[in-house]
This record gives sequence, C-alpha cells and structure tokens, in this order.
Amino acid sequence: MEKFVINGGKPLKGTVHISGAKNAAVAILPAVLLSDEPCIIENLPEISDVSSSLNALSSLGAVIKPINKSTVEIDPRPANSFIVSKEIAKGMRASSYFLGALLGRNSRAKIAPPGGCDFGVRPIDQHIKGFEALGARVIIENGMVDAKAKKLSGCSIYLDVVSVGATINIMLAATKAEGLTVIENAAREPHIVDLANFLNSMGANIMGAGTGVIKIRGVSHLFGTTYSIIPDQIEAGTYMVAAAATMGDVLIDNVTPKHLESIVAKLVEVGAQITENDESIRVKMTSRPKKCNIKTMPHPGFPTDMQPQFATLLSIADGTSIVTEGVWDNRFRYVEQLTLMGADIQVDGKSAVITGVNRLNPSPVKSVDLRAGAAMIIAGLMAKGETTVEDIEHIDRGYEKLAEKLTMLGADIKRVDDLSEYKVIKNA
Ligand code: EPU
Repeated sequence: MEKFVINGGKPLKGTVHISGAKNAAVAILPAVLLSDEPCIIENLPEISDVSSSLNALSSLGAVIKPINKSTVEIDPRPANSFIVSKEIAKGMRASSYFLGALLGRNSRAKIAPPGGCDFGVRPIDQHIKGFEALGARVIIENGMVDAKAKKLSGCSIYLDVVSVGATINIMLAATKAEGLTVIENAAREPHIVDLANFLNSMGANIMGAGTGVIKIRGVSHLFGTTYSIIPDQIEAGTYMVAAAATMGDVLIDNVTPKHLESIVAKLVEVGAQITENDESIRVKMTSRPKKCNIKTMPHPGFPTDMQPQFATLLSIADGTSIVTEGVWDNRFRYVEQLTLMGADIQVDGKSAVITGVNRLNPSPVKSVDLRAGAAMIIAGLMAKGETTVEDIEHIDRGYEKLAEKLTMLGADIKRVDDLSEYKVIKNA
C-alpha cells in the first residue's frame, strides 16, 4: 500500500499549473460514444478516474490511441457492446454517464451501479426519471441498471433536486433524441457548460447550459472534433486553500477565475490577499486566518467539493466558524481524522462547528474519500513534523501529480510504499 509522508510546517511558494477538470473529463469521455467519427480530447488530467473512463470505453469496443500524456484519440465506431461491467463501474461515480451515452447511442445500456466517494446514500432516481421521460424503460436487476428504448423522444423534465449527474446524463441521452428536450432546475456547474460545448462542437444543438434551463434539440449525426477540457476548478481551489493554510504565496496558473469566485470570496473573508489575472490567481497569506461561515450549495454557490479543504484551513482560524453541508447527507467523515491532529470540530447533522486552535499537530491519518484526502494533505502541510496520509488511492482518482506539484512549491512530501519501509516510489 502506498501513502504520502509529509514533513509539514513550510509555507508553499511558487507557481502551480492546474490540470484539466476531472468532472468534465469523466462526462466528455463517455459522450464520445455519441459521435459518428473519431474525436481528439486534449487536456485530460492523468488521474485514475480518467483511466477508468478510458478502460470503460475500450471494454465497449472503442479504440483509444494515446497521442501524448494529456491527449487521446478515440474512435467510437467499433464500440458494439452496451454493457459496463461491475469491475469497471465500481471504481468511479461517473460510470453512470455511460448509461446516458449508451442509451443515446444504441437505445440500450446496462451498467453496474456506480461507485465513487461514500457520502451516504447516492441515489440516481433523477437520472432514471429523465431516461423514462425520454421514452426508456429502466429496470434494476441482478445488480445492474438496464435501460432500453425503442426510440428516444424529446420531453420536458423538472429535476426535483439540482443534480449534476442527472443533468449530464439527460443531456447525453437527449442529444440524438427526436425533438426538443427541456431540463428545468438543471445544474449549472462549469463542467456542464464544458460538456455542452463539446457536444455542440460535434454538431449538437444545446442551449442554456450554465443556466437553470437547458434546451436540447435532438440531431441525428454528430461529427468528429478536437476538444480541450477546461481547467479543474477544484484542483485550483485546493492549491489556493493550501497556499493560505501554510501562510504561503502561490500563483495558481491555467485557471478560469470566473469558476473560482465563491472560493476567492471566502479566502478574502479569512484574510488572504488575492490577485486575479486573466488565467491565473495569486494567493498570499501573511496572518492567522479569520473565522468565517460557509454553506455549500450547487454552482455558483460554494462547492461541496471544497468543503473538507476549507474546513481544514478554518481549524486554525482565530475564532469559531460554522460549516454547513448543503449538498450531501454525510460529508464530514474526515473530521475524525482532523481531530487526531488536534482540530476542535463538533459535527451536528449537516453542520460542523470549528473552534480554531493555534496549530495542528502531525499524526498518521487516513484519506476517507477524494476531497477528504486533499484536506488531509493540506493538514499535513500545515502541521510542523511528520504526517502520514494513508488510503491515497482516493486522492489518485482526482489529483494529477500531487506530490510533484507540491514539491515544486517547496513542500516536503513523498509517496512511499508501506511495505518497503519508507522507500520512495515516485513523486507522482
Ligand atoms: N441526488 C438525488 N437523486 C439523484 C441524483 C442526485 O437525490 O438522482 C442528490 C444527491 O444525493 C445529492 C445531490 O442530489 O444530495 C447532488 O448530487 P449530484 O447528482 O449533483 O452529484 P453527482 O453528480 O453524483 C457530482 C460530482 C461530485 C460533486 C457533486 C455535487 C462528478 C463526477 N461528481 O456528483 O464530485 O460532489 O456533483 O457538486 O461530477 C468530487 O469530485 O469529489 C465529487 C464527489
């Protein structure tokens, strides 16, 4: 088993380059199945969720040709299967996007229920409601979700909850359906706009992505395209918070500042100095963070995927902060780990009351999910001395070359193999 060993207490300084967005990549890769020609996808992050999506595409019969580390050419024409197996689906939440993509391509899809981070119950009822409204019949049998349709026809769907996954899945299924589909109460995340831009670049007719109402006029063919994925908003936010939490001074490069507004607003509130440029943001912190309250919400609200990292910063704030989780039922499982490092956090249902302590102490901790793992890395960078972070396969799902990027910023972090006592494997 691999783990990160961090010798913390050093301010991060320098420039970090942000990779392509995980949550856009895992939607765009299945969407290639809707194309009638090969596509080239650029700016893919080198993370295990992208490898899992590419494996799923090849298991369906698509031909993947790597062009360089962040670019692949995908020929979906030979894909003749409609089944994504349990082994492939279990590793990532976004495997559910193969339902919408395969349904849109073949009017038939069968996949094992998606895996991904454990935040309590993760239903897909709104996805299914959308597929059924488009004319599909969906059954769950022998541990597989099976969706089939004679033909998909445009319809109006009102989502009962703002769901990123349901919005994306319905867009995928509706792109080649007959007639007009309207999704109301749609999610507005940057990766939804990126998916719409990708599909439109292949000849789809999608309007309103980024607003609460998305209109999709079905087309019968999609052409090949070359498309570059947007920068990762959450990777950028994680380095921004790490810079502030270590009293550092970091230029976060290759970002879309518009996507980071809610994170910037909260960093300003805790006392960080922020300079925004066209494609980069500088975060500098010179004093103990001030307390601040946060409530996570769908975009453009403060992202739930930044909640554990920001709560870690607030654990050393001057005063008491309240963090309220407005998206997931159970996203405070990491708190137990932070308290091992001396944080004073009381969780009551969907809120955490964080009483700032003077410092965090180093400790062995676990990464309980992807963003919780990122939070533990930040905590390790803050605490003076040696912190080890275990179960890092969660972190590998979403952060490209984390140790390398942090080392470039002056951190002392190594990926080691647990079995061969602190043998450095690679800084990846
Ligand atoms: N929900 C339902 N029914 C559904 C779908 C969702 O009740 O059919 C509820 C969920 O239980 C949750 C809320 O709606 O309470 C929002 O869930 P959503 O569907 O938006 O989440 P998701 O699509 O499963 C994506 C991201 C998550 C991120 C959430 C919220 C991807 C691959 N995953 O998940 O990202 O937390 O949106 O922004 O895009 C991460 O990157 O670390 C991550 C977990």
